[in-house]
Amino acid sequence: MVIFSKKADVISVLEQKKHPNSTIGFVPTMGALHQGHLSLLKKSLEENTITVISIFVNPTQFNNLEDLEKYPRTLEQDLNQIGTISKDIIVFAPTVDEIYEGNTAAKHFEFDGLEHQMEGKFRPGHFDGVGTIVKRLFEIISPTNAYFGEKDFQQLQIVKKLVNKYHIPVTIVGCPIFREANGLAMSSRNERLTATERELGSLIYKTLCEAKNQFSKKSTKKITDFVKNTFDKNSHFEFEYFEIADEETLLPCIRKSKHKKYRAFIAVFINKIRLIDTISLN
Ligand code: PAJ
Repeated sequence: MVIFSKKADVISVLEQKKHPNSTIGFVPTMGALHQGHLSLLKKSLEENTITVISIFVNPTQFNNLEDLEKYPRTLEQDLNQIGTISKDIIVFAPTVDEIYEGNTAAKHFEFDGLEHQMEGKFRPGHFDGVGTIVKRLFEIISPTNAYFGEKDFQQLQIVKKLVNKYHIPVTIVGCPIFREANGLAMSSRNERLTATERELGSLIYKTLCEAKNQFSKKSTKKITDFVKNTFDKNSHFEFEYFEIADEETLLPCIRKSKHKKYRAFIAVFINKIRLIDTISLN
């Protein structure tokens, strides 16, 4: 495994490694790696001759300073985990200065309205930060394929829009959500939960499965009320949003159409730690 913190160094090693038939698979992350991240890495290794992972806690996508400060930073452990799946992975772990060169202002992006829904409503500026860093990382790595988790489904759709709008020649590959045995979606933020809170967290996926079960029988209003009530009456949770939305446009589903794909999206807090999850409904 080789680790680079400088853009020029990672660019130069990729130049040396590239040959006419090579493909670069890229997995952008903010570290505190878990099995979900590793599943993206494994897919990239299967599908590409070169695999690069970036580890960078991107300040411009945090709308809450405390969340940024408390975000787990576990580089040593991350490198060990990467080493267990392959010795042949390039790690790019830059500093904030190396990426932003003293100017940590996010660029403003328009993603045809995708940015105004759900996470965009509750985390103002978040997707400007994501757009800024992902575009910058793509410019440095020039990947053939880039791997993103469906866990952050809105982010996945926004990154697809970004590469389309800016004609960036990369294929975006969506990957399924990796879960704990109890159903809780794996997340770097889970590291901040106690064992009891992780157990409580299983209610999120359980409720999403129940929403899926109700989808063909009940109105979206009834399902939304059911989900909201489930969390409102449980004092361990603070409910933020639940939405049933069109997978393509991310607009709320008001009247179901047979021809469209829908997904449920949820954000709740356990002890001030924000957790999100999503499930496909049809
Ligand atoms: P991070 O939260 O570290 O996630 C990195 C990638 O791992 C994302 O594509 C995310 O969707 C995926 N991922 C996270 N948990 C997962 C799970 N349980 N199963 C499958 N995939 C999972 O998302 C970010 O970082 C940042 O916004 C980033 C894209 C790196 C830009 O800073």
